[in-house]
Amino acid sequence: MAEIRELGKHVGDTVTLQGWVETTRGHGKVAFVVVRDGTGIVQGVLVRSQLEEATWELHGSLTQECVVEVTGEVRADDRAPGGYELGIQEMTLVSRAEDYPIQPKEHGVEFLLDHRHLWLRSSLQRAGLKVRAEVQQAIHDFFYRRDFVRIDTPILTGSIGEHAGTLFETDYFGDKAYMAQTGQLYVEAACPAFRKVYCFGPTFRAEKSKTRRHLTEFWMVEPEVAFADSDDNMRLQEEFVSYLVERALENCSEELKILERDTSKLEHIKPPFPRLSYTEAVERLKGKGLEVEWGADLGAPDEAALTADYDLPVFVYNYPKAVKAFYMKENPADPRTVLCDDLLAPEGYGEIIGGSQREDDLDRLLARIREEDLPEEAYSWYLDLRRYGTFPHSGFGLGLERTVGWITGRHHIREMIPFPRLMNRLNP
Ligand code: 4AD
Ligand code: MG
Repeated sequence: MAEIRELGKHVGDTVTLQGWVETTRGHGKVAFVVVRDGTGIVQGVLVRSQLEEATWELHGSLTQECVVEVTGEVRADDRAPGGYELGIQEMTLVSRAEDYPIQPKEHGVEFLLDHRHLWLRSSLQRAGLKVRAEVQQAIHDFFYRRDFVRIDTPILTGSIGEHAGTLFETDYFGDKAYMAQTGQLYVEAACPAFRKVYCFGPTFRAEKSKTRRHLTEFWMVEPEVAFADSDDNMRLQEEFVSYLVERALENCSEELKILERDTSKLEHIKPPFPRLSYTEAVERLKGKGLEVEWGADLGAPDEAALTADYDLPVFVYNYPKAVKAFYMKENPADPRTVLCDDLLAPEGYGEIIGGSQREDDLDRLLARIREEDLPEEAYSWYLDLRRYGTFPHSGFGLGLERTVGWITGRHHIREMIPFPRLMNRLNP
């Protein structure tokens, strides 16, 4: 059985393909069928005078998403989608599809999300998910080549990773378990074992926000490096993000074309990325007439205003302690702030990375846990890391869907994951 992506190797040969019917058209003597086999699409041409009548009749009865097996000669044809055409000699029906719900017309997005299990077959969705898969592979390659050890962190956990506000809770044999908001605390524990580690998996946040940037289940990659400070951390981030973009440009040019992505906006994504301290960012925003006071977190409109000045991702570093998580290291030069950074993607895509140097001082960390009213017992194991050989270390988390949303230029990150989980959506 041949695959459509390899038709270029078979010009002049007769091949057999299996796949789903996308469209058909035809008139008295010549007809066409476009078949998708999951590796590509190809147009088949049927000439009535050269076929058995049953084949011609079968063509007339085909509807969208019927499965067929076709045999024919491969011909190069610049006008055909994919560059090749199949001169069909035989065609048989594998299975029928009647009244396929998604028609080649505009559907509302709620309807499409209700039919996500079918919507996956559409060309824009295929292209977006292909870029996602390439970026995922690039993530593993980047860290593998740099001798990071992959650590799988638990999804069910007793310690709150980020904030108490956005937790999914579940009963765990009479105890409370949380769905992981992050794998960070666990990769921190693996650092003394392997020095450079990362985890990459689904994370969960009960975000009650219905924005284009929030999912309740999303994938996050989180490296953690021993003896790295906040500057080392930002350098790793800019090299990492540049590599992911480069890989998408290298291996997904077809997909980015289908997505109508202006790739000139990606080609120059290379280190170094501009850096603004939080304090500078607030001044800059005030200068632009935005209402922001030192001490408040930056919102989506602030992020968009900051990135508008650049065509590269921008680091905003050293935020006020009060708006960031308990584990971030106090800035010795200004204890109102912590040694952290957010990386903001260009073109208004907003925060794709949150990272920080970690608080490695036992007493300060304990004080932060108490200030945040976190249950101290659940962190005794985490505090052990500061009791037994504490060390400077830093890491970050990159959100896969937000990153792929920016690279593909899609508006809403719900299309960047095969089956999105949103506040109002648990099915399909
Ligand atoms: O900034 P966050 O909350 O950082 C952490 O979780 C740290 N523990 C990471 C670390 O230092 N190891 O989340 C990191 C990234 C964000 O920048 C964003 O890209 C993504 O995760 N993210 C979300 N993506 C989709 N939907 C959501 N609800 C997201 N929340 C965070
Ligand atoms: Mg963040």
